[in-house]
Amino acid sequence: MLTQDQLKLAVAKKAIEFVPDDSIVGVGTGSTVNLFIEELAAIKGRIRGAVSSSDASTARLKAHHIPVFDLNEVDALPVYIDGADEINHHLHMIKGGGAALTREKIVASVAEQFICIADETKYVAMLGGFPLPIEVIPMARSYVARELVKLGGHPELRQGVTTDNGNVILDVHGLKIQKPVELEEIINHLAGVVTCGLFARRRADVLVLGRQSGVEEIR
Ligand code: 5RP
Repeated sequence: MLTQDQLKLAVAKKAIEFVPDDSIVGVGTGSTVNLFIEELAAIKGRIRGAVSSSDASTARLKAHHIPVFDLNEVDALPVYIDGADEINHHLHMIKGGGAALTREKIVASVAEQFICIADETKYVAMLGGFPLPIEVIPMARSYVARELVKLGGHPELRQGVTTDNGNVILDVHGLKIQKPVELEEIINHLAGVVTCGLFARRRADVLVLGRQSGVEEIR
């Protein structure tokens, strides 16, 4: 029986196969991505560098002497590699467990291919078991929370967390997300919401899934 960490390591290693030579790679955030950064460091001679989705990943990349580019300096990103908190069979995701959702969504939007790396505990029939993170401008916190209650959720302020962009996170419990694209749209339109942790409009292109039976690619 493989542990969750062993499954994360297996997908981190597999993800290297998606990194083109001489490319700038979009790099996500989280414990699975941290393992991917270790693997990337081992092949850093064949890439130009990375665009990072968080201060935490930037620090790790720099510690490995991998050049980190500002997204504004980069015209195209062939791949973005990131984890997820939940992913369904349409490759819609919930992200933001590490509070990096806004920059993750920006880098993912630029990338030609989003490669999601996840262990099988993240693969679900319906999104919403994991509380949906929403990054909110601080002065809109109470208003947005009231609107989320109207949508059937139970928002909780993530205590002690300020995002890299200076905002707060509301984690919304109790949502059974049957229509992720529609819900993402509705939440995005609430004044004061910076980013909704649903990644459905820009879903993953490939899921590299770590299972007890081996690593599977789902498209
Ligand atoms: C960070 C994220 C991460 O991708 C997500 O939380 C998964 O993290 P981990 O690989 O540690 O399980 O969205 O904002």
